[in-house]
Amino acid sequence: MPVTDLLSHVRVPGDREIRVLHEKHAPTGEAFELVHTHCEIVCRIAEQLLGRAGDGVDADLVRAGCLLHDIGVYRLYDGAGELDHASYIRHGVLGHELLAKEGFAEAICRFCSCHTGVGIGPDEVRLQRLPLPAGDYRARSREERLVMYADKFHSKSSPPTFVRADTYAVDVRRFGAGKAAAFAELREEFGEPDLAPLLTTYGHAVR
Ligand SMILES: [Fe+2]
Repeated sequence: MPVTDLLSHVRVPGDREIRVLHEKHAPTGEAFELVHTHCEIVCRIAEQLLGRAGDGVDADLVRAGCLLHDIGVYRLYDGAGELDHASYIRHGVLGHELLAKEGFAEAICRFCSCHTGVGIGPDEVRLQRLPLPAGDYRARSREERLVMYADKFHSKSSPPTFVRADTYAVDVRRFGAGKAAAFAELREEFGEPDLAPLLTTYGHAVR
């Protein structure tokens, strides 16, 4: 069955339902504020890029993917409300697991597990002994690729910042030439967002 037919059977949650899910799983109001705001920003960035993504990209799916992609971050907070930065790479699989338990289809859960960096391949998991189950965590569909790409333009750093394409292109080089090439390919495919209006709305700096 073609992927498009499979997607037509997927129930895509709306903004309200997603916000309720965030509220349910966020350990503190501060964590909610950080993660949900980031997800909302990624969504606005993806919406800007959707125009260039062309026909056949499911806008509702992209929107839900953006709003949900980091929900697994909540699982990394300890009882004192501190984020376990050392295990951060696991937030994608934790989000996938969380959404699966909530009854969502694989096509929705994958936005969590397949958005980290520019994708994590099975060889990387094995050779770098990453704390992830063996698997392929690379974005496949155009919707998954767009969510992953849009995510690169905002960071939940303290304080949160917007990230220019040129800055990310330099940052990603430390992970190897293959990663830099993958980002360049995404940049070519989707273009660059205009961060200026978002800087004003959210008051975050840009680097
Ligand atoms: Fe993110």
